Amino acid sequence: MNQKTAVPVYASPRHVNGPEECTFYHSIELPGLGLQKGSWDLRRDVDTYIGRLPVAGKTVLDVGTGSGFLCFEMEKRGANMIAFDFDASLGENQHDIVPMHDFEERFGASREVFWAQLSSGLDRMKNSFWLTHRLLGSKARVFYGDVYDCKADFGPVDVVFMGNILLHLQSPVQALANFAPYAREAIVITENCAEKVDYKSDAAACYLVPNAERRDLASWFATWWQLTPGFLKRYLRVLGFKSFEVTFHDAHWADPPTPMPQFTVVARR
Ligand SMILES: C[S@@+](CC[C@H](N)C(=O)[O-])C[C@H]1O[C@@H](n2cnc3c(N)ncnc32)[C@H](O)[C@@H]1O
Repeated sequence: MNQKTAVPVYASPRHVNGPEECTFYHSIELPGLGLQKGSWDLRRDVDTYIGRLPVAGKTVLDVGTGSGFLCFEMEKRGANMIAFDFDASLGENQHDIVPMHDFEERFGASREVFWAQLSSGLDRMKNSFWLTHRLLGSKARVFYGDVYDCKADFGPVDVVFMGNILLHLQSPVQALANFAPYAREAIVITENCAEKVDYKSDAAACYLVPNAERRDLASWFATWWQLTPGFLKRYLRVLGFKSFEVTFHDAHWADPPTPMPQFTVVARR
């Protein structure tokens, strides 16, 4: 098993002047600046999205924090937060782009040009995190690393939270094996219920999303899997988790404010 012995080098806070330098993934109300609109508006959804886990006094590792809305909400609820996201120095390996054979024709840009645009968008998302961090006076520590190979010793972590990240990873099982050892008490995983899949069955199913026959979202460059609770439970048992709670709920897209069905697995040691 991956030993967590490396001394973590936390990211130094970036000074971000204002929202014009940011792309918000999550809608958030910022002191003095008002509501910043993101792609998702989870303001009504926080408790269900984190599986109603009481986080006060817990150290939580938020894997794939994005604009950090959930990280800051958990901090507001009394958690000591460590936010994890990709390390830009990993280059193209920082995000797992689906290697469609006809990439340029399909996405209207060569992989290189597409990648350059994507990485500048991702950097603006990191700016949104840092602007919010400063304006809320957050104490969250931030670590940028490799989702498949994080060796940092963060000290005791009670809860690992993974919100809608596994569907974007080429190898969700590798990322789970990497982060599960951090969780002393529980791992909380929220994923969306995208298509006609039986999420309520206990079958350990995981569906491949990329489909070269299609041109719609099913062939998007950044979504790999539709995971199911049964799949996650089976693998989390392998990793040493013993009890599971599965809940179904909605998370809201910002514009238009559409409810999008989700499930959350809370797995305990
Ligand atoms: C869909 S957002 C989810 C944000 C937030 N956790 C939530 O639940 O709303 C996915 C997050 O995972 C990160 N991510 C996606 N693919 C990644 C990869 N291959 N390596 C590291 N991070 C990745 C993104 O940078 C982003 O912060």
